[in-house]
Amino acid sequence: MNEPRIIVALDFSSAEQALDLTSRLDPDLCRLKVGKELFTATGPGLIEKLIRDGFDIFLDLKYHDIPNTVANACKAAADMGVWMLNVHAMGGRKMLSAAREAIAPGTAKLIAVTLLTSMDQDDLNDIGLQGNPEQIVLRLAALTQACGLDGVVCSALEARQLRQMTGPDFHLVTPGIRPQENNSDDQKRVTTPTAAIKNGSDYLVIGRPITQAPDPLRALEQLNQEIRQTR
Ligand code: C5P
Repeated sequence: MNEPRIIVALDFSSAEQALDLTSRLDPDLCRLKVGKELFTATGPGLIEKLIRDGFDIFLDLKYHDIPNTVANACKAAADMGVWMLNVHAMGGRKMLSAAREAIAPGTAKLIAVTLLTSMDQDDLNDIGLQGNPEQIVLRLAALTQACGLDGVVCSALEARQLRQMTGPDFHLVTPGIRPQENNSDDQKRVTTPTAAIKNGSDYLVIGRPITQAPDPLRALEQLNQEIRQTR
């Protein structure tokens, strides 16, 4: 069995809704992402339950604070037993390095968010950041790698360029994925699983195409099949 490359985004507001979905999924076929909404509503109890159920968890809380605070938060997350967690690369070199030092190698994977995809040039100008979004993504990804983190979250459209820059051993985790025939919900720039993998993505974060499907397990199996055929 190849390791699952799909990370299902559990964008729910209660443990009941999340567990209703995960009871219909299979930990051999996917991993799960728990973000700010679900974690704030349910706390670590749900994460511990999902880990007991056999799932690998990506805790998507995008820590961004002073280095000492982020390091302690990362350690607390890793101690919970999550498979992957993330920080915000905008926190800078000292914060990224402190996060890296807080997590023993070989335990949780530590990745960073570069520039939020909701930020456009006007937003960058407003906050006084130099360069265009592409340049900032590349700069922050290079900084993340230099600080020894395991990868970044990025758009699958940026993955090809990032893969060339980072080499093969850096994880690229990409949201904004839609199967060919699906609508794109509120995602503006979407990519198919095939295109994302070809661009160098390692893990695909997929929410609504699975969570809102009439048969989520079947939707997951179809997406996995598309990924297998791409290799
Ligand atoms: O439902 P959908 O597949 O659009 O969900 C994508 C998930 O990835 C959501 O949890 C969303 O917050 C997250 N995400 C994203 N775009 C980013 C970063 C994260 O869609 N740039």
